Amino acid sequence: MKIGIIVFSNTGNTLSAAERLEKKLSGKGHAATLVRLMPKAGYRAGQAPTGFEELPALDRFEALVFAAPVNAFSLCLPMKEYLETIEPLRGRKTALLTTEFFPYGWMGGTRAIAMMRRACEGKGGVVCGSAIVNWSRKDRERRIEAAVDEIAGGLIG
Ligand SMILES: Cc1cc2nc3c(=O)[nH]c(=O)nc-3n(C[C@H](O)[C@H](O)[C@H](O)COP(=O)(O)O)c2cc1C
Repeated sequence: MKIGIIVFSNTGNTLSAAERLEKKLSGKGHAATLVRLMPKAGYRAGQAPTGFEELPALDRFEALVFAAPVNAFSLCLPMKEYLETIEPLRGRKTALLTTEFFPYGWMGGTRAIAMMRRACEGKGGVVCGSAIVNWSRKDRERRIEAAVDEIAGGLIG
């Protein structure tokens, strides 16, 4: 299956988790492609972007993953704004990944996932998996592994 992993990441945490997912899906024989969502120059973490460098074409993918960090107890603004602009997902399998610094989902992760879910379902996507990685937790490695398994399972399981 051709799977697009669309990632926004300020400092590399979400990107590194998404890369693990890409590796896992590729290892299972799927054509997983990671695409970074890049705001235009001048973007500063926590602020709204003034646009994006290049919008990834989604129609070449059969399934999609959207991955982005929590900012200010919510989904970061670049991913929020991006999801408002994407083309219809037309029943495609969609999975969601977020990372946050704080140890509990109620500190932003749960809300970020809910926002991505609402946006993707609003575009006709079928959300088949989601995961939060709490970056400050001691067992972060295990949580990244579990998040990757959860999302891969939903997409290809
Ligand atoms: C502007 C800003 C706001 C943030 N707000 C939160 C927050 O509300 N809750 C939280 O758990 N982490 C928060 N964080 C931490 C990031 O969510 C966390 O470090 C995440 O893993 C960063 O992912 P990234 O490296 O892919 O950008 C914030 C970070 C920034 C830069």
